[in-house]
Amino acid sequence: MENLVIHGTYFTSKNMNEVESHEDHLICIDRCGTITRTLSPTNDEYSQILNDARQTERLIELKTNQYLLPGFIDLHVHAPQWPQAGLALDLPLADWLNHYTFPLEAKFADSHYARYVYQDFVHQLLSHGTTTAMMFGTIHNDANVELARQSIMQGLRAFVGQVVMDNPEQTPEYYRNQSSTTALHATEQFIKKIFALAKKTSSTVVPVITPRFVPSRTDEALTGLSQLARQYDLPVQSHLSESDWEHGYAIKRFGIHDTAVMDHFHLLTKKSVMAHGTQLTEDDLTLLRQRETTIAHCPISNIYFGNGVLPVRKLLAHGNSIGLGSDISGGYLPSLYHNIRQAIKSSQMLTDGVDSSLPATVRGVKDSRITMANAFYLATVGGAKALQLKTGKIAPGFQADFQIVNDHQTLMKLSSADIFQRLMYQTEQQDIQSVYVAGKKVYERE
Ligand code: GUN
Ligand code: FE
Repeated sequence: MENLVIHGTYFTSKNMNEVESHEDHLICIDRCGTITRTLSPTNDEYSQILNDARQTERLIELKTNQYLLPGFIDLHVHAPQWPQAGLALDLPLADWLNHYTFPLEAKFADSHYARYVYQDFVHQLLSHGTTTAMMFGTIHNDANVELARQSIMQGLRAFVGQVVMDNPEQTPEYYRNQSSTTALHATEQFIKKIFALAKKTSSTVVPVITPRFVPSRTDEALTGLSQLARQYDLPVQSHLSESDWEHGYAIKRFGIHDTAVMDHFHLLTKKSVMAHGTQLTEDDLTLLRQRETTIAHCPISNIYFGNGVLPVRKLLAHGNSIGLGSDISGGYLPSLYHNIRQAIKSSQMLTDGVDSSLPATVRGVKDSRITMANAFYLATVGGAKALQLKTGKIAPGFQADFQIVNDHQTLMKLSSADIFQRLMYQTEQQDIQSVYVAGKKVYERE
């Protein structure tokens, strides 16, 4: 017998170009939080299952204006930067890091402060419809463990990274690992603590190898981190070719692009997620494709720091792995709805800067636009594939990670396909009614 049945209309990606809508369906979920089957009203067992679930109070009945969507997967987010979300985004990246971000992250040496911030931040992610997040923490072991603990307590599927930044030339004295040896030791301690916590709580929290970006770390740290990633078979996260400044730094220090630097240190794997990539060349993209490394597209943040637009449509067509990230606080809100919208808007504004074969006077690159179905795919299936999770889709065999959203407009009767578009454009935090992870309610709007 099903443990839980949801009755209503749902939307899910069919593939990267199409979204399916299923009206008035039943979604059956077992005790482990896996979707076992979905039934249309024409199915012989439909009425029986609906009645049984109703009588035994295992039914979630969506109201007429409510819709079910997969939970979103945020592939790139800095949890400690939540207190400064929406600040100083008119500064260049290096100034923003040195004057705002590093001083704030240094405060997480105090694990009480970490708890105070992370408790709120995990709640914010869930209340925006995000059910899985790949997060940067700080260089502080205890604070990062606190982030994992809050995620477990509140039910977020979490990937948590212990940040490494040990290069004295590009990091301030008050916020850096004292040496590559201490950074590697702290990372290994962190991995062990997270494994122990996951075992004790039977949770799915995963530690992530997290070299911040090429300017902030030494060669010794990169070598050691790739060894740890291999030894413990862990995901890797970092920033890649985010801005002209960062891209130029790698060329100056190593004589090659930062993608090649990361590959030289064996940090591009099929479990790696690299944020931004607005300066990536064809060769870089080919290398990422060969390594099956995912790019976390952070369209809001890229507006501020990216000095370019990621050519998402080209990446999808070429078979690069790609998902979506809020990049709090390079992005100002933990909402993947806002990032879905910006991904579409940015794709429509692609200009000559992304294609060096075009003269500078030419505005626009042919066929660069992405659709709502493409952007929704990035926020759901794209992210799930990157993290090798069975989530992001409403279909048998997938985890029951959902959001139930309210549509307020009733002025005109719309097709399901149009309702989907409007939900994507208009849903805000207050429109999200409830959120589920593995069939368990993790958020309900008051
Ligand atoms: N590059 C290095 N660190 C950061 C960060 O915290 N945010 C962004 N957007 N880029 C970075
Ligand atoms: Fe970032």
